[in-house]
Amino acid sequence: MPIGSVTRGTTGTNRLRRVDRWIAQHPAFLAQSEPLVVDLGFGASATTPLELHSRLARHRPATSVVGIEIDPARVAVARLSERAGVSFRLGGFEVPLDGGRGATVIRAFNVLRQYDEAVVVEQWRRMTRRLAPGGILVEGTCDEIGRVSSWVEVTPAGPVSLTISLRLTDLVAPSIVAERLPKVLIHRNVTGEGVHRLMGDLDRHWQRNAPLSTYGPRQRWIATVRGLVADGWPVLGTAARWRLGELTVAWTAVAPLGFGWGD
Ligand SMILES: C[S@@+](CC[C@H](N)C(=O)[O-])C[C@H]1O[C@@H](n2cnc3c(N)ncnc32)[C@H](O)[C@@H]1O
Repeated sequence: MPIGSVTRGTTGTNRLRRVDRWIAQHPAFLAQSEPLVVDLGFGASATTPLELHSRLARHRPATSVVGIEIDPARVAVARLSERAGVSFRLGGFEVPLDGGRGATVIRAFNVLRQYDEAVVVEQWRRMTRRLAPGGILVEGTCDEIGRVSSWVEVTPAGPVSLTISLRLTDLVAPSIVAERLPKVLIHRNVTGEGVHRLMGDLDRHWQRNAPLSTYGPRQRWIATVRGLVADGWPVLGTAARWRLGELTVAWTAVAPLGFGWGD
């Protein structure tokens, strides 16, 4: 039996473009000439696995995407869209793959948000056991049209980072992402938690840099991220990513109080 439960199948065209773009430049993906990428919980249509494949194949033409879904009816519908490099199968957090091959990347988006916070680490650990050496799990959440998105990168050794990715045009406050944090963090936006400090510091620097809007929201965002660096936040990546409205911080800075990965 697939591990997990059928949940709402809401999905949408272009919804996951921000995380797809991030995966496409990730060293774990680029290191492979024939990456095997899983879209776990693809939902009511084949849209997100097909988009993921077309975005990744621009960088690694021999990419294979396997869409895995726990609802058999959704798998049957998606199979009508199978094509070279994209296949679909029934499964859950156990991530079934032919021949027991390990995945280069498992992307699980808007799946765990419908589960209880208490099961997150257990299911992260289960999914990361299905990664090939050097592979990553990317687990996160976004709004309906993909303008507000966030995800955690997880390896078999534990979580590595939190990334948030926002459409900067007309952005009022970066803490809008608090509504779309991964399940492990969404209930932790409270005093004393790292993610709560991050939301506050982001908003503060965004407001402080409002005059830079004259040069466009990208300049304002880059200055915001530089402000976080100056404050001592362990920001990862370079301004090339910040320009896209992204911010990645080391997991240690936002890990919930009492978080444990186990051994
Ligand atoms: C809200 S949809 C997300 C669709 C798509 N990933 C997106 O972000 O647009 C969540 C889907 O995950 C499926 N799902 C829930 N738990 C699952 C599991 N353990 N394994 C595979 N699919 C699962 C649900 O049946 C549902 O179709």
